[in-house]
Amino acid sequence: GVTAKIAPSMLSSDFSNLASEAARMLDYGADWLHMDIMDGHFVPNLTIGAPVIESLRKHTKAYLDCHLMVTNPLDYVEPMGKAGASGFTFHVEASKDNWQELVQKIKSKGMSPGVALKPGTPIEEVFPLVEADNPVDMVLVMTVEPGFGGQKFMPDTMDKVRTLRQKYPSLDIEVDGGLGPSTIAMAASAGANCIVAGSSVFGAPEPAHVISLLKNSVEE
Ligand code: DX5
Ligand code: ZN
Repeated sequence: GVTAKIAPSMLSSDFSNLASEAARMLDYGADWLHMDIMDGHFVPNLTIGAPVIESLRKHTKAYLDCHLMVTNPLDYVEPMGKAGASGFTFHVEASKDNWQELVQKIKSKGMSPGVALKPGTPIEEVFPLVEADNPVDMVLVMTVEPGFGGQKFMPDTMDKVRTLRQKYPSLDIEVDGGLGPSTIAMAASAGANCIVAGSSVFGAPEPAHVISLLKNSVEE
């Protein structure tokens, strides 16, 4: 069966203490660290880029699950690879013409390629990337509009997760946005196995409890 990965979104952390925030999440049982890269153009918010990934990499060996909400993902592959990113997930809406080149380049820089899609984008758009000779390793189904932490989970997006899981039994399927104790059951039963959680983890009095609850909801 599938094994769940829990990836706290560092967007909800105290960015002025990123290394200790990361260490704390790993102590609490996090599997991955989810890093939200936003360019102020693809989404109406601006966060961090390769320099911050490079700084964090000096303090941790953890898998850095990088989610690129940027208009020109190809421009970020080399800097993110050099910085020490582990996963590089780009948006299908931003890579219509060049996803093949993008996937090839991500792999050549030693990273794992993933493709993300916004709530309004049909799931069919990612099928070619999963079925390619040189495929992506993961599909990230956005469960809120990308751009900000702390938004409400959109249950309608679960149809996409179910469709993907039926079609691709061993694919890594990540969900991102509004996940926490009250929404995890929907994502788990639909077939997600990589869970991003920002505000529900960082805002909890005992984040370790939330991480373990999320983990146990998904594992068989
Ligand atoms: C939103 C980001 C998410 C966000 C999740 O654009 O991709 O990773 O930080 O935060 P929560 O879990 O608070 O919805
Ligand atoms: Zn994200």
